[in-house]
Amino acid sequence: MKKIWVGTSWKMNKDAQSAKEWVSSVLPHLQLCSDGVQPFVIPPFPYLSQVSQLLNQQPIKVGAQNICWQDEGAYTGEVSPLMVKDCGGSIVEIGHSERRAQFGETDHTVNLKVLAALRNDLTPLVCVGDSKEEKAWGVSIESVVRQVIIALYQVPSHRLTEVLIAYEPIWAIGEHGVPATKEEAQQVHQAIRQAIQERYGEATADQMVLLYGGSVNLSNASSLLDQKDIDGVFVGRTAWQAEGYAELLNIANAKVKG
Ligand code: 13P
Repeated sequence: MKKIWVGTSWKMNKDAQSAKEWVSSVLPHLQLCSDGVQPFVIPPFPYLSQVSQLLNQQPIKVGAQNICWQDEGAYTGEVSPLMVKDCGGSIVEIGHSERRAQFGETDHTVNLKVLAALRNDLTPLVCVGDSKEEKAWGVSIESVVRQVIIALYQVPSHRLTEVLIAYEPIWAIGEHGVPATKEEAQQVHQAIRQAIQERYGEATADQMVLLYGGSVNLSNASSLLDQKDIDGVFVGRTAWQAEGYAELLNIANAKVKG
């Protein structure tokens, strides 16, 4: 039985104090969390050590919002996968649309980072998404599948299922985003799984974890999680308040209990 993944990236928000407060408020909810739910939190780099230490022994994975594709060397301003591990991270977000749009991330660098994460036994969480224009042109599936296939280039077949994919439509993310309907999200998730099945076989496709992100809130999380090909949610604003994140965990817990 696959777990239901419920995660948040804080993006470039919070300070040391509010990071600590979020963790203390979420802790009791983690202790009550079902084994069938996999929580994760992705703070900004400077708080990674602090957050992972505070959450040590808890069933929540802690991760980074980016990595360099090199392990060490003359790469000023970058953070290596080894450093993320050293700071207690076990998961790494790769290719969020904000990084693709504003910081020059490409499908090629996403692929290099996926390989770097796996080489260092970090779980890559690859974000893929379609733009508003691609949606209007009717090429959302083509665009998203292309991003997934390039991200997985040269990933050894026995390691494919370690890679998490988050479908995050660009038009759905953030303050001005419009959440995908459950039907829209399911359609793209199904297409991603189908594309993986065609290239890597049914067993791999079935085991791949596909998350949805983009204006997930307390009203739409449950119906999104009910979709056949949606294995979890990756949340921004709703989860930045500990109460919101705890409520999302409750929604997922209720699904496990049936
Ligand atoms: P929002 O949930 O705030 O739309 O952000 C989603 C996201 O980008 C998660 O990575």
